[in-house]
This record gives sequence, structure tokens and C-alpha cells, in this order.
Amino acid sequence: MSSTVLVTGGLGYIGSHTVVALIEAGHRPVIVDDLSNSSIAVLDAIASLTGTRPTFCQLDVADRGALTAVFDDENIDSVIHFAGLKAVGESVEHPLRYYVTNYGATLSLLSEMMAQGVHDLVFSSSATVYGVTETVPIDEDAPLGAINPYGATKLGIEGMLEDVASTGGWRIALLRYFNPVGAHPSGAIGEDPAGIPNNLMPYLMQVAVGRREQLMVFGDDYDTPDGTGIRDYIHVMDLAEGHLAALDHLREGCRAFNLGTGAGASVLDVLAAASLAVGEAIPYVIAPRRAGDAACVYADVTRARSELDFSATRTLEEMCVDHWRWQSLHPYGFAGPDTVESL
Ligand code: NAD
Ligand code: UD1
Repeated sequence: MSSTVLVTGGLGYIGSHTVVALIEAGHRPVIVDDLSNSSIAVLDAIASLTGTRPTFCQLDVADRGALTAVFDDENIDSVIHFAGLKAVGESVEHPLRYYVTNYGATLSLLSEMMAQGVHDLVFSSSATVYGVTETVPIDEDAPLGAINPYGATKLGIEGMLEDVASTGGWRIALLRYFNPVGAHPSGAIGEDPAGIPNNLMPYLMQVAVGRREQLMVFGDDYDTPDGTGIRDYIHVMDLAEGHLAALDHLREGCRAFNLGTGAGASVLDVLAAASLAVGEAIPYVIAPRRAGDAACVYADVTRARSELDFSATRTLEEMCVDHWRWQSLHPYGFAGPDTVESL
């Protein structure tokens, strides 16, 4: 059934792919984004991909007055809340910025939803809420813990949403993403990180496109088959479809779901698949382990399969081919080389 979905942070990496999926499924997304980590060019790309230009309001979600105007004008049925800061290292350097932004936006949004009688919410959480775990696969009942301020905000917001839902009438899904990678198969939208990427796939794709010299593989002495870290990479289009499934299956209360593939790939597996996609070997060196990294992390996806009827279907090869198409078409993202820092 078609509905109007407020998408906070809808011009960002995961939000923009979800907006495309919403439009294709017949929904009407209304995007709010302050453009702090995205470009207005994404809106044009969404319009040319889907033939629909979604309603967009540039605002900070923490600005309650601006949010009220959107709810008053747009007849919102439900909300997907992506907006927030997400860089782990930056959160350690500037913890207050993370608490203020991530909590501030969520408190403002929840207060407005309450005032407007809108009680259906899908929240972007993260596998980071499991802290550093040694037991895989990780299911939703695994112990929780934060190892940095970013993780603490995700964990804190999950707790806040559980408390709110316990008052009755709310239907909330907490989606714990594992490692989102890839891009829309058109190459028109994709991940456009500001500064030096922290995460594996955007970093190695910037090496492949010539923006960086080589990938540093953080540790080859883990207790894994090839010694490098294992993660559960999920194609961003699968992730986008996971949001639609979560919306379709919202139930009274607050429920957490892992969104991953349920399978792990090592850093060397990703390098091999990416090199194949790019058509040449991507240079790398072995470097020391990164502080705070676990050896092996992948999801138990049973709950999403049984309760949301959702399974990720795209392969690591597709993730690399699609991420490379985006990166090679937009070597410097949406900003272009003049406004992006060089090597
Ligand atoms: P992103 O930075 O690309 O997108 C976030 C969007 O929100 C950006 O467009 C930014 O401009 C906007 N924004 C930030 N603060 C805002 C505010 N106060 N008001 C309005 N707009 C604001 O990030 P993403 O990778 O698409 O991640 C989306 C969500 O998913 C985040 O909450 C992130 O923590 C979570 N998440 C991401 C990953 C990942 O690897 N990308 C993993 C787990 C969880
Ligand atoms: C990181 C964050 C985590 C966040 C997740 C998704 C840390 C410690 N953890 O997790 O909180 O939820 O991103 O945003 O930052 N790697 C390299 N070289 C690189 C980059 C990464 O070898 O230049 C390795 C890592 O050691 C790891 C794997 O690649 O084994 C994946 O790393 P990354 O993409 O950063 O994701 P996570 O470690 O899962």
C-alpha cells in the first residue's frame, strides 16, 4: 500500500538508495537533510533515476520548528530515521558533537512524531551496538556494549526508543546494519565519504581510482583462515530493500533486526573481488592491526528472514562491480576534484 514516508538523512549514502527503493515500490518519500554530509546533486540523481523528484526540505532534524512545518504540510504516515553522524574516529575526537547531534536529532524527531500522532518508525542502528564480540554469528539477543561515542549514541537511542515504545501505540524497528557497501547498479548514486575514508570498501575504491596510493590491510595475524579480519558486507540495495520490508512488517512495540548476509568475507577476499571488478590488482601493504577491531563479525539473519521476510541476495562480486561503477563514474564523488582533498 502506498504511504508517505519521512526520510531523515535521505540524501546520504543509505538514505538515497532507500528513497529510490521507496519510489519504485510506490511510496511517497519526503526527504529532510541538512546537507552536512551529502550533496543536493543526489536529489537530481534520484529524480533522473526514478522519474520522480521527491519533496525535499533542507533542515536540521534537531530544529523542531522546521520539522513541525514538514509534518503539518506533508501528511506523514511513517518515518525512516537515517540522519546523524557516523564516523567512529571523529566521535572519539569530538564526543560531544556526536551526543548533541545524534541525540538532539532523535529527541526532536520523537517529540514531533508524538505531537503529530505518527508512531511508525524505522531507525538506522548498527552492528557496533554489539561492541567487540568473539562469538559469531551474532544474533539480536547477544550482549550489547559501546566501544566509542558513536556506538554509545546508537545504543542510547535504541534504549530511548524501547522506553518510548513501552508506553504503547508505537511500532518501531531497530535495524542493525552490518557493513553496507556497493551502489545503485546505474552508478548514479553511491557512497561519497568526506575526507579520508575509514571503511574498507570506499578506501580501496579510492586506491583503485588513483586518489590514494595503496590500501593498508590492518593485520594479517588474526585467527581467521587468511589472517585478515572478516566482516559481513551487505549490498546497499539489499539494505534499502530491508527498510521496505521493515516498514511492511512493523508491529506494536520495539524490535531489533540484524541486516547482513549472514556470511563473512575477509579483507583479502574483498581485495580479490574488488580487483576483479576493477580489472587490475589493487595495491596494498600489510599494516598493524587497528585498535578496537574484532577478528570476525557476521550476522545471524534468522530473525529478519522469519519476521520481515527479508534476505539479502546480492553477492560480494555484485557489491564490488556496482561500487566500482559508481566510483569510476564519479572519481571525486559529487563535489569534483577541486573541492576534495588530494592524496
Ligand atoms: P551519510 O552520512 O551518508 O547520511 C546521513 C545523512 O544525514 C547525510 O545526508 C547528512 O547530511 C544528514 N544529516 C546528518 N545530520 C543531520 C541532521 N542533524 N539533520 C538533518 N540531516 C542530517 O550516512 P549513511 O552511511 O547513509 O548512514 C545513515 C545512517 O546509518 C546513520 O545513522 C549511520 O549511523 C547508520 N549506519 C551507517 C553505516 C555505514 O557503514 N554507512 C553502518 C551502520 C549504521
Ligand atoms: C567500522 C567501525 C564500526 C562501524 C562500521 C560501519 C571501527 C573500529 N569500527 O567497522 O564501529 O559500525 O565500520 O561503519 O572503526 N580494514 C583494512 N584497511 C582499511 C580499512 C579497514 O584492512 O583501510 C579492515 C578492518 O580492519 C576490518 C575490515 O577491513 O577487518 C572492515 O573494516 P571497516 O570497513 O572499517 O568496518 P568495521 O571494522 O566492521
